[in-house]
Amino acid sequence: MPNTISGFSKLSKSDKIEWLLDTYFNDKTNARALVKGYWNTDDKLQKLHDEFIENTITNYYLPLGVAPNFLINGSHYTIPMAIEESSVVAAASKAAKFWLERGGFKAEVLSTEKIGQVHFMFLGDFKKLQIFFNYVKPKLISETATITKSMERRGGGILDIELRDKSEDVPNYYQLHATFETMDAMGANFINTCLEQFATTLKYEASTYEAFDAKEKDITVIMSILSNYVPQCLVRAEVSCKIKELKSKDIPHPEEFAQKFKQAVSIAEIEPYRAVTHNKGIMNGIDAVVLATGNDFRAVEAGVHAYAAKEGTYSSLTHCTVENGVFRFWIEIPLALGTVGGLTSIHPLVKFALEMLQKPSARDLMQIVAVAGLAQNFGAVKSLTTTGIQEGHMKMHLMNILNQFEATEAEKTKLIEHFKTNVVTHSLVVEAIETLRK
Ligand code: MEV
Repeated sequence: MPNTISGFSKLSKSDKIEWLLDTYFNDKTNARALVKGYWNTDDKLQKLHDEFIENTITNYYLPLGVAPNFLINGSHYTIPMAIEESSVVAAASKAAKFWLERGGFKAEVLSTEKIGQVHFMFLGDFKKLQIFFNYVKPKLISETATITKSMERRGGGILDIELRDKSEDVPNYYQLHATFETMDAMGANFINTCLEQFATTLKYEASTYEAFDAKEKDITVIMSILSNYVPQCLVRAEVSCKIKELKSKDIPHPEEFAQKFKQAVSIAEIEPYRAVTHNKGIMNGIDAVVLATGNDFRAVEAGVHAYAAKEGTYSSLTHCTVENGVFRFWIEIPLALGTVGGLTSIHPLVKFALEMLQKPSARDLMQIVAVAGLAQNFGAVKSLTTTGIQEGHMKMHLMNILNQFEATEAEKTKLIEHFKTNVVTHSLVVEAIETLRK
């Protein structure tokens, strides 16, 4: 059986599965049962999921957990998190509780501007292009009127369009660099539709512009697309308290803890190898909430990491000061999120997550997500600079190891009890299972 196929997307779901089974699997019965075992018994719900993408064969589950006790700007939240990594939700919940008792998180949206670009080639004099751009700019705006109408009614729309000269980097390359306000929508479709209209108008108007010669009239549009780099769509979240108020069961010596914590953050600010891991921990929290709320975590990841490198060296997204007896820890990140449109109105669990968050605006969600990132980082750096990460991580990972060895409920109860007071390592867990089973 060849393992290439044409017309695959036109096959029925069952035929697609059968083709896969015939092509790649020895034990077809088991593989078929596995794939179909993940289908939802509610056909309508399954169809909804099938239609999110092309060639769906089944569902891929991630746990949806919740982290309660977040106090953000005086309001209480339970934060939904979709993630597979054992210790993330536990760490977020622990950090939330810690800061609940110390005034909670303060968060603030600093800006909400999004960006899109039309990249084009122009063979001619830049000064003439500038004059043409000034002439055509009102048309670029007016010809998107039908696209922008409802966004403008909601308070958003096109903020500005600039002409940018990039011809020193790539010969004949210029941009329309446009900024947008998309209110509660992430806005990708809105922005891309506007940009494609700008491109059409630009090309047509140039072709009929009298002052241009034949070469100048022939603008080549390379592409029109939003940017996931949104350094002007920024949110900041912060925690602070008197150093002595950090004292807790895990932090017996708050002054020493605060200094060590600050040093750990300073290291992540200057050392890219550490910064990447430090920020990965932040993204554990951010991605989990972004995913649970039906937003595009790839877009967020790309934009956040670009922001982390904005000074030319990859650096920490969080910062810390210990001054005048006060510990202060904050994050500043770009987040283009939506609470309307996209998956938010169709995925039942996304609707559930948004309702749990009290139907946030996009601005509210930016604050909640930034807080989740900050809390996650607080938890990670606190563990790293005190007990080390493995203690908590392995405790949470214990269940995965027990499941890997198909431990029964009775075995799990005994072993969880045993490892409450014993170090968890993979080999020690295996040893304990074997001893129990002897
Ligand atoms: C693991 O997923 C995340 C951490 O490595 C983050 C960090 O080191 O700060 C614990």
